[in-house]
Amino acid sequence: MDIPKWQYDEMKSTGVDYSNIFEVQAYDDQMSRIRDIGTESKEVISTLALPPAATLLEIGTGTGTFAVEAAGYYSRVLAVDVSATMIEYARRKALGKGIRNIEFYQAGFLTYEHDREPLDAVVSQIALHHLPDFWKLIALKKVHGMLKDGGRFYLRDIVFSFEPDHYRSFFDQWVDGLRQAAGERMAVDTETSIKDEFYTWDWIMEGLLTRAGFDIKKKKYTDGFMAVYLCEK
Ligand SMILES: C[S@@+](CC[C@H](N)C(=O)[O-])C[C@H]1O[C@@H](n2cnc3c(N)ncnc32)[C@H](O)[C@@H]1O
Repeated sequence: MDIPKWQYDEMKSTGVDYSNIFEVQAYDDQMSRIRDIGTESKEVISTLALPPAATLLEIGTGTGTFAVEAAGYYSRVLAVDVSATMIEYARRKALGKGIRNIEFYQAGFLTYEHDREPLDAVVSQIALHHLPDFWKLIALKKVHGMLKDGGRFYLRDIVFSFEPDHYRSFFDQWVDGLRQAAGERMAVDTETSIKDEFYTWDWIMEGLLTRAGFDIKKKKYTDGFMAVYLCEK
């Protein structure tokens, strides 16, 4: 498909540089220190409650931890990410575990073209904030269009629900907490992401999901910066 010259270039790296293998390895290491990704992945799978014959697409798969877990439950998993380095890292992780039912594609929210039967579910975790809000809506409409009727969309992302007047102290405490939990590199990466990526507010994200056509079945905000939504088409 021809990409118009005015379209947001999602393949260029904004914020943390996930085309850099050292950054990718550091990301996997940092996440294992601050998240229990195994438990998180199992929660996503039990929340979606799909049959084993389901086809699931993950957008922004990163180092592939969720896709690898999901491949043990569903017949087919499609995993996309804009970063060739991330895709290669995730592919090796899957092969190392003998998993062969994941198809990897280098593409993103705006550039992935789903030309097969509609999907049972789409999952995206900590990736949508790489797009500015205008493009988030376009991306969410594309996700909606790829799903079958009744299909489910599980979105986890950094979405702010704290009191905006306190943004300075909120960000300082957030960065300091991550420095203590996962080290200086994590603190610097978080400062970069606050500065250069496109985190948005809870009320904006809910508006975007609804405008894209989704029914928000469940939503959960934690720690003023994390959000999870279970949506249905
Ligand atoms: C913070 S990582 C999250 C990885 C993984 N989903 C997780 O939960 O750990 C963000 C990922 O989103 C990818 N990404 C950035 N912009 C994207 C886009 N427009 N479409 C799809 N993936 C994107 C990055 O390459 C990176 O792998």
